[in-house]
Amino acid sequence: MKRVFLLAHPAKHSVSAPMHNAAFKALGIKAFYEALDVPPERLAEVVERLRAEDVYGSNVTVPHKLAVLPLMDELTDAAKSIGAVNTIINREGRLLGHNTDASGYVRALKEDGKFDFEGKQVLLLGAGGAARAIVYAVLQEGCHTLYIYNRSQDKALALIKEFAHLGRLEAVTKLSQTLKSCDLLINSTSVGMEYKGSDPDETPLPEGRVPSQGFVSDIVYRPEKTRLLKDAEAAGLPYQNGLPMLIYQGAESFEQWTGQKPPIDLMFEAAKAALR
Ligand code: ATR
Repeated sequence: MKRVFLLAHPAKHSVSAPMHNAAFKALGIKAFYEALDVPPERLAEVVERLRAEDVYGSNVTVPHKLAVLPLMDELTDAAKSIGAVNTIINREGRLLGHNTDASGYVRALKEDGKFDFEGKQVLLLGAGGAARAIVYAVLQEGCHTLYIYNRSQDKALALIKEFAHLGRLEAVTKLSQTLKSCDLLINSTSVGMEYKGSDPDETPLPEGRVPSQGFVSDIVYRPEKTRLLKDAEAAGLPYQNGLPMLIYQGAESFEQWTGQKPPIDLMFEAAKAALR
């Protein structure tokens, strides 16, 4: 029996475990995916155990995506450029740090959203950890300009500086104008995510602003439709939540571990059931 882990803290409500276990079962692969609650002080020791022969590797999520970088033997270009690892692959005892968030995001928008990034004006809300993979993804796909808007502008400016070598990045000066001209609006903040005490009507846009143009993409998948996506729907705009990105980042990780393509529809079903 092979094993795969999710390194998280906390590790409750993992959608990845049922999604990957359903795929292992369907393909007859004798493997089991388990979410581990790993406090930061135990991270190095747990990562060390991924070198064992019966371990395919792991996923890595909040708050460990940056902290595992120096623990890897090697990093892929995506992990290096994004500066974060969400997938560890055990190659005969050597640990390869990879990132499938960016490719997962691109596949979600292209395949499920029928969105083509080339030459497009993109407006990204947020400049935190989750924004990094999106910035990399959108620039790699050849968008014309990527505008970044963040509540704290200093963080947006820092991100722009860091990724400037990959494409055309700009800070938003007049949000109302950029909202009116963008082809794609992305929320990479956690605003709208359901948790105890969260406000279901909060959006990452400042008071009173709603999307009025282009495709609207929210990386949040719980709830299924955030306030931002409801606003997009009311404006008659095409939109997508974060579930396809979650599935496709998982699908690429699965393929890296096992060398096999997982059944996507089944992964969607298992994730949806886990979210219910
Ligand atoms: P993550 O890894 O989920 O991206 P993070 O690195 O803490 O988490 O980043 C959170 C992002 O959501 C930031 O861009 C943050 O804005 P600030 O840089 O101004 O903190 C944004 N964010 C969080 N709560 C927000 C809110 N209520 N309104 C607007 N933006 C918010």
